[in-house]
Amino acid sequence: MRWTGRSRGLALLALLACAGCAGNGAGLDQNGQPIGSESSGASGPLTAELQSIQANVFTPICTRCHIGASAPEGLRLDAADSYNLLVGVPSAEVPSLLRVMPGDPDESYLVLKLQGSAGIVGGQMPLGGPYLPQSTIDAIRQWITNGAPNSASMEVSSSRESARAFAIVGTAPVDGAHLSAPLRQIVVAFNHEVDASLVNDTNIALEQIDMTDTTTMQPLPIHAALATGNPSVIVILPRAALGPGAYRVSVRGTGGGGLADVDATALAGDHAFAFAVEPGP
Ligand code: HEC
Repeated sequence: MRWTGRSRGLALLALLACAGCAGNGAGLDQNGQPIGSESSGASGPLTAELQSIQANVFTPICTRCHIGASAPEGLRLDAADSYNLLVGVPSAEVPSLLRVMPGDPDESYLVLKLQGSAGIVGGQMPLGGPYLPQSTIDAIRQWITNGAPNSASMEVSSSRESARAFAIVGTAPVDGAHLSAPLRQIVVAFNHEVDASLVNDTNIALEQIDMTDTTTMQPLPIHAALATGNPSVIVILPRAALGPGAYRVSVRGTGGGGLADVDATALAGDHAFAFAVEPGP
């Protein structure tokens, strides 16, 4: 929502900047933004790399809706979150498919939603159109065919942090979120690759908070595992989709056998985040 005003401002800037290039569209990129403007990033024309897709598609088009605590299906597509919430993470709408299955665009729900393919739940993306040209979808398909790598430049923050403590960098839902039922999955993203052998239910717990006595927690059965091809992300699947109620996820780093990264650095502290699931539409 914060971005709506800003992207309108950018669109206005684009129009103003174009006053001098009347008619021929020269100097515009495929989003109609002036080449080299802030919204198209420094990356220039669209290529099959995440940073380019981010700058040309996700940031200018998708974050109109896919941003913040109330992002649809918990899918935030800003530069800080898109990789962690797409690659190897199940679709909320069709949980049998991953949003991005590294190496396989036809099995990636993101691509099916952009193409408006048969079998999707809800609408073609971007919702309400205009839909992406095939050449843009092809660049996204090629990125996935290439294994859906993170862009070196988007990893800068995490590599700068690699000397630092092992920490959580994002969750979906975010702490304090209110979302509508049912909730099928929870995502926790880290700044380092996680030691898969420590992803278990002594380190990761989901509890329902009793609203009549908020000190009482009811543990719920989950399946927690690293995202496919994205070992910095843990996907938590409650045994049954979460209905209306308040929930807390906790991640244990302290004490013997706590969560650690692949270099055996323990998670700095114990962490918890809570959110409310409200009756669906
Ligand atoms: C106008 C708001 C809006 C825009 C813009 C938008 N989306 Fe969505 N998106 C939604 C809504 C609402 C849903 C859930 C309902 C539905 O699927 O129709 C959704 C669902 C999705 C899903 C399904 C997530 C899952 O876990 O099942 C994907 C993938 C997706 N969008 C990708 C995109 C991409 C990529 C873009 C940009 C090219 C985009 N969306 C632009 C509103 C939007």
